[in-house]
Amino acid sequence: DWTMAAFRAEAIQRIRAQVGDGKVICGLSGGVDSSVAAVLIHEAIGDQLTCIYVDHGVMRGGETEQVVRTFRDRFNITLVHRDASDLFLGQLEGVTDPERKRKTIGRLFIEVFEEEQAKLGGADFLAQGTLYPDVIESVSATGGPSVTIKSHHNVGGLPENMRMKLVEPLRDLFKDEVRELGRELGMPEEIVGRHPFPGPGLAIRIPGEVTRERVQILQKADAIYLEEIRAAGLYDAIWQAFAVLLPVRSVGVMGDGRTYESVCALRAVTSTDGMTADVYPFTMEFLTRVSARIVNEVRGINRVTYDITSKPPGTIEWE
Ligand code: XMP
Repeated sequence: DWTMAAFRAEAIQRIRAQVGDGKVICGLSGGVDSSVAAVLIHEAIGDQLTCIYVDHGVMRGGETEQVVRTFRDRFNITLVHRDASDLFLGQLEGVTDPERKRKTIGRLFIEVFEEEQAKLGGADFLAQGTLYPDVIESVSATGGPSVTIKSHHNVGGLPENMRMKLVEPLRDLFKDEVRELGRELGMPEEIVGRHPFPGPGLAIRIPGEVTRERVQILQKADAIYLEEIRAAGLYDAIWQAFAVLLPVRSVGVMGDGRTYESVCALRAVTSTDGMTADVYPFTMEFLTRVSARIVNEVRGINRVTYDITSKPPGTIEWE
């Protein structure tokens, strides 16, 4: 009889057998997969594991602090936290093409990760939160022609040529099983139940140029939106919900004055795998409440719209 407790025990034995007394490095992204992989591996080999968290400056508001707090303070995992936001935002200056944003962030991420790894004196193994669907996808990706709509950059995924042996303890699991394993490991619901978040972060939720100021505006709107979703008890019914800061300004009225500020679009979808998605049917009352809060509380936004496009033909992200 297969249980998550049994999987956990077996996985720990397998990790110990593979790693021996070697050193393991794991890139943490704040997402479910790399988080669960890190906690599982830490349980198996303790201080032989070092995690590297690269802050690219386009995380959600408060996310970095939460990752550092959780892994360092709660799980006692050795964690290198590198704030590389100046570097990333500097290189994103003037970049408006979505694919160039992804490539810029992907390239810098690898550079910074390699730098941090070198500072640690290298390692014998690289841990990754690869899941079963990722394994299938990379096999089928070599099996025939396919259409690439977006060059997915995933901060957990590092290039083959990093020459370390891989530790991938989640390779046999689906997403819901990874969540269950995380719970079995005593991880907080705010991590195991978290919505997927793209590797390039808020950079692909700011069509047009990404600046520090625009990132901050979006972080505020996004935080209000998610706070209201959680308060309404809707978070777990939704696959992904986020705000997008549009490169469009509209005229509005505030008190006696005219405003001319940015438009924000809200997105929320249901999905089982991200391949297809339906719009989440919020009530008008909910949407108008969120809109009022964002316009009142976030300087720089004076109009809010709700994206009602399903996938296909739309994609979940705007870029
Ligand atoms: P789309 O927008 O293609 O997104 O419908 C499908 C799922 O993939 C996520 N996504 C990404 N994840 N790097 C990632 O790690 C990326 O570059 C990227 N682009 C999209 C998106 O959030 C959704 O869950």
